[in-house]
Amino acid sequence: MLKLVELILTAEIYNRFSELTEDDIPKEIRKIFYGRNGISRPLVVKLDAAKRIGNVDEVLKLPFIDLNTFTKQFVVTSFDAAVKWFASKAEAVEHIRNNPVLAYFYQNYDSLNVSYEEAKKRNEPKHSDREWLRSVIAELEKSPDTAEMLGLVRIYSPEDIKVDFSDVALDSEQIEEIRKIEVAMEERSYLKRIGLTDIGKLLFIGPPGTGKTTTARALSRKLCVPLVEVKLSMITSQYLGETSKNIEKVFEIAKKLNPCILFIDEFDYVAKTRTSDEHAAVKRAVNTLLKSIDEINLIEDGVILIAATNHPSLLDPAVWRRFDKIVEFPEPPESVRKKIFELALSKVEGSYDIDELVKLTDGFTGAEIKLVVREAVLKALLRGEKKITQQDLLEAVEEVKGRLCLKTSY
Ligand SMILES: Nc1ncnc2c1ncn2[C@@H]1O[C@H](COP(=O)(O)OP(=O)(O)OP(=O)(O)O)[C@@H](O)[C@H]1O
Ligand SMILES: [Mg+2]
Repeated sequence: MLKLVELILTAEIYNRFSELTEDDIPKEIRKIFYGRNGISRPLVVKLDAAKRIGNVDEVLKLPFIDLNTFTKQFVVTSFDAAVKWFASKAEAVEHIRNNPVLAYFYQNYDSLNVSYEEAKKRNEPKHSDREWLRSVIAELEKSPDTAEMLGLVRIYSPEDIKVDFSDVALDSEQIEEIRKIEVAMEERSYLKRIGLTDIGKLLFIGPPGTGKTTTARALSRKLCVPLVEVKLSMITSQYLGETSKNIEKVFEIAKKLNPCILFIDEFDYVAKTRTSDEHAAVKRAVNTLLKSIDEINLIEDGVILIAATNHPSLLDPAVWRRFDKIVEFPEPPESVRKKIFELALSKVEGSYDIDELVKLTDGFTGAEIKLVVREAVLKALLRGEKKITQQDLLEAVEEVKGRLCLKTSY
């Protein structure tokens, strides 16, 4: 019952205070109100939705809540009585602490010890909602021009991202760079005030399978912002001028979806050194890319740009300058390999010696370590066992080493 009253009261308070925004509505409550065009004011609580939340009959016994049987909407008949009743419930304080809309109203109410700012910190903003992203995309699909842009990228809601930072083993330098982006995101208005706008462009360099894509995804989840992914090879066209146009569209889409992370993979595909014998279209594409990077930034556009490449040596020198941070993803050193083994084996039963494995896997990437574990698990399953042995892992290491030799001999 309390949950349903919270819903009704949240709608009522939100409608009364126009300074409250969608970000103030708790995430679970927001999900109830998403319509075709996002969340519209005023919020109305309908009978159908209410039935899913709590006991409607119980709530209707309260003297200050009524149901309009014609519109099937709930109405608060006495606001004062409603807020007083809610505040008198012992368990209500916890609800208010986690609900910025309620906290906004109640922070100056009687002796309730609640804070709007604190509640806001606990609540994820609307751009973390899958439904929000869907409504923005639906809007963009309406115009043929922007609909075409959507075809160039993959867009993920942070809610749909499966990895988080507890799944990635990073070294202290990588962690620090990621942390800087997090605080820059939080302190955007401060950075704008002091004129530090050129922030939030990272270049991830390193061999395949070292965690570049995974880190970009985990960051999206951590920051609760959508991830716009694009592989440059996918938007490159043989037609003159088409690649440049596509690049512009990708940046435009990121700006429309802000705040977000724009993750450009296979960055070297376009950003290669402009050699003299190159086709004019290629040069033009590089120039467009440079210009687009110049014209986007976290502080003003709310876009974090992350570019990734396996071939940093191919990059045009002018490209390097445009990133405020180069984050290296090298073949992981012992300490990181150890962490990756621990992560990969955390749910696997068996007896094994990770330190020995770490010593034997010099030059292995994170992806290859995961492959070792997968092979070992399959070997054990083949014997009909769920518990793996050190022998399984050692054999798997040898097999993956064999693969590595194949890779380098071609
Ligand atoms: N440091 C790491 N910690 C945990 N897992 C890792 C790490 N590095 C790689 N992996 C695992 O390896 C796989 C591949 O990683 P990912 O796709 O992030 O690599 P990448 O650097 O983007 O590679 P590519 O350059 O080929 O795109 C993922 O399953 C990921 O979980
Ligand atoms: Mg990748």
